Amino acid sequence: MAGAVGVHVISTQLPVAFISAMKQRGSAIRCAANTPNKRYNIAVLPGDGVGNEVIPVAVDALRLAGSLEGLDLRFEELPIGGVALDLVGVPLPEETLTKAKNSDAVLLGAVGWPKWDNNPKHLKPITALLQLRAGLEVFSNLRPITVFPQLVDSTFLRKDTAEGVDLMIIRELTGGIYNAHPRGFTTNEQGDEVGFCTESYSATEVDRIARVAFDIAKQRRSKLCSVDKATVLEGSMLWRKRVTSMALEYPEVEVSHLLIDTAAMDLVRHPRQFDTILTGVMFGDILSDLAAMIPGSVGLLPSAALGDSGPGIFEPVHGSAPKHYGKDTVNPLAAVLSAAMLFRYGLKEESAARRIEIAVSDVLDRGFRTRDIHTPGTALVGCKRMGEEILRSLDARVSTSNGSGV
Ligand code: IPM
Ligand code: MN
Repeated sequence: MAGAVGVHVISTQLPVAFISAMKQRGSAIRCAANTPNKRYNIAVLPGDGVGNEVIPVAVDALRLAGSLEGLDLRFEELPIGGVALDLVGVPLPEETLTKAKNSDAVLLGAVGWPKWDNNPKHLKPITALLQLRAGLEVFSNLRPITVFPQLVDSTFLRKDTAEGVDLMIIRELTGGIYNAHPRGFTTNEQGDEVGFCTESYSATEVDRIARVAFDIAKQRRSKLCSVDKATVLEGSMLWRKRVTSMALEYPEVEVSHLLIDTAAMDLVRHPRQFDTILTGVMFGDILSDLAAMIPGSVGLLPSAALGDSGPGIFEPVHGSAPKHYGKDTVNPLAAVLSAAMLFRYGLKEESAARRIEIAVSDVLDRGFRTRDIHTPGTALVGCKRMGEEILRSLDARVSTSNGSGV
């Protein structure tokens, strides 16, 4: 398990790995912007397991890309999950929630560790995640699935099936079966033990997530597929009715509806047909892990959780990965791409987001691969080294563009 993470302020200086790389090359640190720095406060919650390996890489990328855009990012590290249980006895300390609420964006690693698997639900690490989502009212979960041309050999599907896939899953995050009441445990008339949890969606809940999805679809290829189980579930029947009526407001968006079982099949059979997928909390959870096999690794999947206002949560989709922790082998790209989403959706700093995405693409062009995406003829590297190469690529883009930005 990771060493206990105390509550402390991370230095706002440039990453050590970056500075030493620059010293070796005898180059100076440049800043592309001439305007006074814009200042942002980022709450950093590495959490458990590999969260502690990938989040430092993402913070370095944020700091360097930000400084190249003239942004002054302040980071404060806060405990969540098992680390918080060890420190203060609850998975989401009050201070973490308050500081997250007062931040401009939250960068989250992962929560969960076998040590706490048998804890009661309110003392399990993942409860912190659900509480944080509820506390920040982040009802929309954006999970992009992209097959980088350099990584097409990593797919679990046929190469010609995966090639060119670029889709966005928009998952409802604070309602549905995860959050609805009544729920609990009881005993029926036969004396049989029963666990139950009721799915419900209100029109307001469906409308607000559907609007996010329509707006995003409009900025993409204007194709929206809503996924439900409207043949069986009442929540889904209402979902389909509301999405159908909202479609009238978006004549430019082509809307389709699929049942979850068919959607799962189509996602592996012909993923390129999808552009924007809109679905509920449970189906979205399953579909996003399934979709991770299109690029070939959950280590490539970033996410953003957004509300109407206030800070969003930016988090790699992979979990704490106890089996892989401590070996410096995991892929930091999901976390780094989450950092790009933090710039884009959290801070509305598109140029900084593009810098990170271009650096990721550059690192892949230069042949660096972590274990999960390693294929013959490429260079196998660990998490830290991948991070160093990302910083090198971020800096190289400035050198080649003569300091004028990407
Ligand atoms: C995810 C995770 C979480 C979820 C768990 C840890 C509560 O699986 O973000 O996909 O189901 O939302
Ligand atoms: Mn999941």
